[in-house]
Amino acid sequence: MENWQLDSVTRGQLWTTVAIIGALSWAGYAISLAIYRLYFSPMAKFPGPKLAAMTQWYEAYFDLIHKGGGQFVFEIKRMHGPIVRINPFEIHISDPDFYDILYATGKLYDKLPSLSNRYDMALAGFATADADLHRLRRNALNPFFSMSKIRSHNALIQDIVDRISARLSAEYAGKSDKILKVREMWGCMMADVITELAFARRKNFVDQSENMHAWFTEAISGMLVWTHWMTHFRFLIGVMNSVPGWVVKRASRHLGAVWEYREEIESQIRDILSGTNQQAKSASHETIFHELLSSDLPKEEISFDRLHHEALTIVGAGDHATKWALTIATFYILENESVHRRLKKELTEAIPGPDEIPPWVELEKLPYLSAVITEALRLSYGGVQRMPRINRHEQWLYKQWTIPAGVPVGMDNYHQHTDENIFPQANEFKPERWLGNPKVEVEVDGPDGKLTTVLKPLSSYMTAFGKGTRMCIGINLAYAEIYIGLATLFRRHEFELFETDRSDVTFVRDLFSAHPAPSSKADNLQKVACWRM
Ligand code: HEM
Ligand SMILES: *[C@@H]1O[C@H](CO)[C@@H](O)[C@H](O)[C@H]1NC(C)=O
Repeated sequence: MENWQLDSVTRGQLWTTVAIIGALSWAGYAISLAIYRLYFSPMAKFPGPKLAAMTQWYEAYFDLIHKGGGQFVFEIKRMHGPIVRINPFEIHISDPDFYDILYATGKLYDKLPSLSNRYDMALAGFATADADLHRLRRNALNPFFSMSKIRSHNALIQDIVDRISARLSAEYAGKSDKILKVREMWGCMMADVITELAFARRKNFVDQSENMHAWFTEAISGMLVWTHWMTHFRFLIGVMNSVPGWVVKRASRHLGAVWEYREEIESQIRDILSGTNQQAKSASHETIFHELLSSDLPKEEISFDRLHHEALTIVGAGDHATKWALTIATFYILENESVHRRLKKELTEAIPGPDEIPPWVELEKLPYLSAVITEALRLSYGGVQRMPRINRHEQWLYKQWTIPAGVPVGMDNYHQHTDENIFPQANEFKPERWLGNPKVEVEVDGPDGKLTTVLKPLSSYMTAFGKGTRMCIGINLAYAEIYIGLATLFRRHEFELFETDRSDVTFVRDLFSAHPAPSSKADNLQKVACWRM
């Protein structure tokens, strides 16, 4: 008995001692790491909050917790001077003229490897961190997205918009109780265009979906909602993949849609690889995957997983940003009577017969429509999360700062598009700011080392598609869809806003791309009411 008591006392003491030593060593490690990061790291000289320099949990707090998450980009704006250390490892620059240097044409910069897998599409070009491997993958896709290739798809895109238009006339026009949810309508269009181009198998959402609502939209939102969680807790991808699909589908509508989307794309790739996709063989256009399979990519680059990941990204990216830019455009046109009237007037004069919509190459020449589209792209942002680049070989110089090779540097379109020196009253939708090819005066270092003033076109500061070697590959397709979509629907139909205001489209949450509040009617997937004809 006595022995047993002694035993338990010693065992208790032993565990207490182990726990104390463990806690002390952890604290010691944490404190030395913090001291290193603050005073000895090569990043120590850059300005920024001490806490953010000490630990990545600072960023995680704003990404995940503060006001429901998605707030770090606003916190970065609050921190700013032109250059800030936003976390222990990364620099952020807010200076519109550095964009062309960081995202320089022809330069091979890496992305952050830690971001590669966050959407579980690590083998896609978009997610490829290594610059050389990215170039290989991107070059194989380039021909498919070239200007001439996209121009050749004009009739196909017009056909899909015509179907929307016919459905609006038949189902919505003149029926005051029938409410059209515009974001979903554009989502149907995007999903149909990209599934046709990618697989020659159109989903036919514009014809067949109830209330013109494509479940693809839900799947893509489902992925974006988890962006920050997947970034900060990378093991979650593994956890998710270990849960059977049917459990996920039952547990969550959003995640269920994500699963369904992955399975859908998977089966498309299987059919293409096994040669059972007859539509693709007889289609009047080449599909993305035929482009890839007939390219000179090495064999391991056209594996099932590689193609699956590439397809998930292209279909997702093709859907999301374009439909949001069109939603922003639609809202702001309808919100302001003078913008609406001026656009209508231009379209009516340029397009005498509403059934004969000119091709994109002609629509692009309409000045007011173009101004409306550029302004909508500015306020839709493209991406609002910073896009870090790593220069492995050389340092970057910015003003008096030398950024060591290998340090990730990021900029973002939120800072870019809301810079009041470039875009006065940046939060207002003002298409007029783009009319007449305006220029901005910029001071740069001249050849003699003195500051000189140069004129840069305002359009070079509209960076919704990014710039450089990693810029959006789908830019031509996106423009074609936006021009044809807006010109057709605004030439033919009358719309008015229904219980929708700016709060429904204003950017308040960064989920990689710009999102409005969760309660937004443009974003809320449960409600089917927004705009009516
Ligand atoms: C308004 C519409 C669009 C906007 C604003 C937009 C914006 C962007 C941006 C900012 C990037 C660069 C992301 C980064 O550097 O991390 C990007 C990349 C990409 N986009 Fe788009 N995008 C749009 C439409 C499209 C369309 C229609 C497609 C294709 C069907 C597409 C496919 C892609 C792909 C594949 C990438 C990755 C390119 C690479 O890493 O080489 N996007 N997009
Ligand atoms: C409507 O748009 C015009 C042209 O951009 C602008 O001058 C005017 O201030 C806007 N009106 C409102 C109420 O925002």
